Amino acid sequence: MCGIVAAAAQRDVAPLLIAGLKALEYRGYDSAGLAVLNGGEIRRVRAKGKVREMEGLYRADPFPGGTGIAHTRWATHGVPNTANAHPHVQGGVALVHNGIIENYATLRGELEARGHVFTSETDTEVMAALISERMVSGKSLLDAVSSVVHELEGAYAIAVVSDSEPGRVVGARRGAPLLVGVGIGENFLGSDAQALIQVTNKIIYLEEHDVVEITRDQVQVYGHDGKPVERAVHESELSKDAVERGEYRHYMQKEIFEQPRAVADTLEARISPNGVLPNIFGVGGDELLAKVKGLHIIACGTSYHAGLVAKYWIEEYARLPVNVEVASEYRYREAVVPDGTLFVAISQSGETADTLAAMRESRRRGYLGTLAICNVPESSVVREADLKLMTRAGPEIGVASTKAFTTQLAALGLLTLQLAHQRGLDGARYADLTAQLLHMPSMIEKALELEPRIIELSERLIHRQHALFLGRGAQHPVAMEGALKLKEISYIHAEAYAAGELKHGPLALVDEDMPVIAVAPNGPLLDKLKSNLQEVRARGGELLVFADGEASMDGNASRGVILRMDGGGDFIAPAVFTVPMQLLAYHVAVLRGTDVDQPRNLAKSVTVE
Ligand code: AGP
Repeated sequence: MCGIVAAAAQRDVAPLLIAGLKALEYRGYDSAGLAVLNGGEIRRVRAKGKVREMEGLYRADPFPGGTGIAHTRWATHGVPNTANAHPHVQGGVALVHNGIIENYATLRGELEARGHVFTSETDTEVMAALISERMVSGKSLLDAVSSVVHELEGAYAIAVVSDSEPGRVVGARRGAPLLVGVGIGENFLGSDAQALIQVTNKIIYLEEHDVVEITRDQVQVYGHDGKPVERAVHESELSKDAVERGEYRHYMQKEIFEQPRAVADTLEARISPNGVLPNIFGVGGDELLAKVKGLHIIACGTSYHAGLVAKYWIEEYARLPVNVEVASEYRYREAVVPDGTLFVAISQSGETADTLAAMRESRRRGYLGTLAICNVPESSVVREADLKLMTRAGPEIGVASTKAFTTQLAALGLLTLQLAHQRGLDGARYADLTAQLLHMPSMIEKALELEPRIIELSERLIHRQHALFLGRGAQHPVAMEGALKLKEISYIHAEAYAAGELKHGPLALVDEDMPVIAVAPNGPLLDKLKSNLQEVRARGGELLVFADGEASMDGNASRGVILRMDGGGDFIAPAVFTVPMQLLAYHVAVLRGTDVDQPRNLAKSVTVE
């Protein structure tokens, strides 16, 4: 959730740390800070708000120093203010932290009894106090960190400096990502590669329980048992351009418009007009998939919605039972796992704490195997799965997921086709579904042409307090995704219903102040949906209907608007109809003047429970 950058270099590191934090700001942005070691002195600057607030303070009173740590925060313990911003300093030790220390209250009580005074409400400050206590008793920074992390319960990625060991940064991780950037005559730590790409593309991904020590000339990693270990250096494929906003007003808008390319990349070399290519899920993948008798799909938020679409697809075309569940529930209940069930984790980041914990929990529940559908190749979810299918969306910076969702649908489309083909789906239907999937990029491209119309429509929503989204079948999750997008970036309360449910309760909410957005592609359920829309119309609700080009909507526009588009066929329509949902949420948020890429209270990668 929060972001970490640290550096040991010959040059002054504060500007590098600030640049790294800006690249990480999507992770958390309620306060920021940095601390730099200059000789034996720690200088620190912290501020509530975005990185630029802290940067302003630093620029007003800059300080030199070749070793430093920095942090952008998403508050868990303690409100967002300067006192709770990281780095926390105790007895000459400065520390930044991502994650949650669950036993911090006990540790803090013990430290207070020994005379420590705390200046923040955070769980983080106790770690700085514990490390400084160990150093006072004679331990080096490395040994002090290594011993303290054994006493912590919960999740952490940390970077620590001490005024008695200039030139050195010690890091450690468990349950939250941390990686090393290997430079020439300088080395770095970061919570993801984006923070480091401007200084190096050589990355070491630390493993669970690793402790690392960096100086400007050396990187040494220590494994769980405290012994030195070798970890491979990877060349990151991230490019600086991929994380720049270019001509677009917001990252979200850029990412919406990147979808044709991102979906095409996700399909590339995995499907031909004849169907899905062999073993795209990894070695032995097709063999394992042939044994599958059912699927449990686990994910959070937008990724969960992608899983819900896949349930409709896989049950219809492969005739396999599919359960889809949010990870935060799944991990704490005793799900029944029938023989031959495949566990599927869907995650953009691959570091979502709930999804990762659910996947680890699945190990003891007797699944046939695990499949990760993910956008980050080196993420924990990918590394721990048996089979993987990477989405190739490229870095997604906007907190609201857009291209991650449609690329997940493309990947799940491939999975559906593979499972369906193995189970004898009729050849003509298989060919039709294959052709549809291959057209997904161009159909999304066409849907993007709706933007000018959607900008006009957005005006209708900007002063509303609430909105209802309706869909049927595989479009119900699309309506859910539309509602999630609208609420998270425009702060308009939005809910989605399977349209047939309207009369069972939510219809009571419909009056002339309630806009109702309906996803209405062609298909066997369109007539049913039209009846549901009549129910809305009869109560004076204002309809915004997204419909397939030629479908008659029987006067449903009399109070509202029908926007025509081409869904590209029954199979891929959920992906194509998602595009206007994204554009609508985006333009309503722009008109309302919210912080589109960094909406309040949220963070991109939720690495805490
Ligand atoms: C949606 O716009 C959000 N960013 C959020 O719901 C997100 O999809 C969820 O936190 C899951 O993240 P993941 O895909 O990285 O696991």
